[in-house]
Amino acid sequence: MSETPRRRTTKLGIVGAGAVGATLAYAALMRGAAQTVALYDIDAAKVTAEALDLAHGIQFMPMARVVGSDDVDVLADCDVIAFTAGAKQKPGQTRLDLAGTTITLVQKLMPELVRVAPHAVHLLVTNPVDVVTYAALRTSGLPRERVFGSGTVLDSSRLRFLLAEHTGVAVQNIHAYIAGEHGDSELPLWSSASIASVPLLEWTGLEGRGPLSAEDRERIARDVVESAYQIIAGKGATNYAIGLAASRIIEAVVNDERRILPVSSLLEDYHGISDVCLSVPTLVHAAGAGETVAVPLTDLELAGLRRSAEAVRATARQFGL
Ligand code: 2OP
Repeated sequence: MSETPRRRTTKLGIVGAGAVGATLAYAALMRGAAQTVALYDIDAAKVTAEALDLAHGIQFMPMARVVGSDDVDVLADCDVIAFTAGAKQKPGQTRLDLAGTTITLVQKLMPELVRVAPHAVHLLVTNPVDVVTYAALRTSGLPRERVFGSGTVLDSSRLRFLLAEHTGVAVQNIHAYIAGEHGDSELPLWSSASIASVPLLEWTGLEGRGPLSAEDRERIARDVVESAYQIIAGKGATNYAIGLAASRIIEAVVNDERRILPVSSLLEDYHGISDVCLSVPTLVHAAGAGETVAVPLTDLELAGLRRSAEAVRATARQFGL
């Protein structure tokens, strides 16, 4: 009897079965991002339980398989590995406060991940994501394309949500990026933002809702930065939107979408900024984070991006990176 031929399918690995890892698994399964989702966590009981709970829902999802283990070999031959493990941000702590614990963990695990899945693209999600991405890239020795971070994809979606609320226009018609650190020094790129092809700075409003004044823009930019703190104060962590954002990035890789996303990657002379992982609009395709888009910046935006690069570098230096 001839064997049933099996087609090569996508395997997504997730390191860490905490709130972010489990929600990413759920989002990726619901969106059909991968046909196998493998969860890895040092807590055997937790990872087995999360995998089983997800597997019980498979009837209601696009075709997939879920496995979970405390053995890193569960990630063997993954196409993409999302790293979500690390210290949890407590109320009042910044993302940069978490650096030490997570960097040590990344430095320990990256060689293992490269060993079990030598061809994987690595998406770092754990905070402080820009520094963690830089540590993962340097430890792994992999090319910059294959190790990048979720960066400000989530922050940009928060920005678009707030702009949509303010203008009464669907979030899909708003094109605006947050660039820089995924954290306190991030900045909106207002000068290149647009709403339905109208430069955002020239938007006059619809249905009696006015334009975006300088005060509106300042308030919205502040709200984007404060969003995570507000959620952490209320429920201890953020998980849904980051799970969806990470799944969206993974889909761009596994489907070779060539989508422009503000992921965090190693910058090489981006408006003169180099040797730091930071978010700017970047082409995401099968190889991972491709070329960055040279978005025109005002002097103020460039100064903000440079400040952000310096904030991330300062933390990296504290940990000998
Ligand atoms: C967020 O922005 C805490 O980085 C996490 O939701």
